[in-house]
Amino acid sequence: MQQTVLNPNQVRRQYADWADKYDSELEGSWQYVGPREVAAQVREFLKPGSRIADIGCGTGLAFQFFPDSHITGFDFCDQMLRQAAAKIEGLKQQGTDVRLELADVTNLPVPDNRFDAAISVSVTEHIADLSAMIREMRRIVVPEGVIAFTAAETQLNGCIARSKSEVSELLIAENLPLLKTFGYRSHFEYAMLTRPAIYNCFICKKPR
Ligand SMILES: C[S@@+](CC[C@H](N)C(=O)[O-])C[C@H]1O[C@@H](n2cnc3c(N)ncnc32)[C@H](O)[C@@H]1O
Repeated sequence: MQQTVLNPNQVRRQYADWADKYDSELEGSWQYVGPREVAAQVREFLKPGSRIADIGCGTGLAFQFFPDSHITGFDFCDQMLRQAAAKIEGLKQQGTDVRLELADVTNLPVPDNRFDAAISVSVTEHIADLSAMIREMRRIVVPEGVIAFTAAETQLNGCIARSKSEVSELLIAENLPLLKTFGYRSHFEYAMLTRPAIYNCFICKKPR
């Protein structure tokens, strides 16, 4: 059945309403594993001290999994970023410094070649023009930098589902060689369905 996809303003409002409960719901009964799964696989391609852009960082759940890093989190929802800001002091103790920027993931206020890696967890299901987001991630990382993002294969209410082959073809068209793909199940569901959703993660390298 074809689902209605929320437009960006609706997405932003939904997260603004959810922001103060997001962490407790996802870390509680939902057992949301996305940031941990992605970080565990991406870290093998990174050196300590890497500059990492977290695209659609939300409340910053991924930050804790990148110790000794310089992270900039981008998100277009101010309320989600405020939750992320509350984590900054604690992260300093594990050697991680964090900056936050209010920005749209398809138009990042960043010069070219600024980061060693760009990651994005559970965001593409809100992005109609995935190529635009991937081009931005590619633009802001250095040559040979790492780009990693997830895509929901399960159709979630209000969201865009994408198959592994559909995303792989898009990456070929964008000349982004894949280093690795893997799948995982997550209880994170945007529309609060009761079954786990299937996600794929794509880790690529920006060519020289
Ligand atoms: C499901 S949350 C994921 C947050 C975080 N990455 C995590 O794994 O917990 C999706 C986030 O993407 C953000 N988002 C969605 N569309 C966006 C856009 N066009 N530009 C910037 N942020 C966006 C939302 O505000 C929300 O914080």
